[in-house]
Amino acid sequence: MTKKPALNITRDRMIQLLNEDLAGEYQAIIAYTVYSQVLKGAAYTDIARELELHAGEELQHAIKIAKQIDYLGGMPNVTPKPVKTSDDPVAMLRADLENERTTVGRYRERISQAEAMGEFALSETLRAIIVQEQEHEIDLSAALNINVPLPIKPENSKTGRKRPKANRATRR
Ligand SMILES: [Fe+2]
Ligand SMILES: [Fe+2]
Repeated sequence: MTKKPALNITRDRMIQLLNEDLAGEYQAIIAYTVYSQVLKGAAYTDIARELELHAGEELQHAIKIAKQIDYLGGMPNVTPKPVKTSDDPVAMLRADLENERTTVGRYRERISQAEAMGEFALSETLRAIIVQEQEHEIDLSAALNINVPLPIKPENSKTGRKRPKANRATRR
């Protein structure tokens, strides 16, 4: 048994994985909508404005992923992944960054899988999305004053979410 992500997946498995991705996009919409409004303090004015823009971009991602699920013959799911809440600005930004890392890792895998299936329109759609997710990571990392962390490997995308060790969040 190898630990490599399964590249040759069925259409049904792709639909299932995209639905998990869609749940992550919903989570991002909610988190950015709320965090952009509750981040207080002069130090956070710029990033709060930035998060508002992220919310709109995440909505566009959700629509694109839902469109692809429908195209593949699946039914887009309606349930977001849980959203963390906090009063602490740094905790909010870190939660966003953690989610973006997970998302980038997942989409990297999904792009390879889409290409292996010959679904090139899907892989193009995902490529356009991953460009924006990486920009989100850069914005959050800049606000937190840290380097952009490495993506989290989805490791065969079991349903359970991997929880990285807190101190390995940055490559310094
Ligand atoms: Fe997104
Ligand atoms: Fe994002």
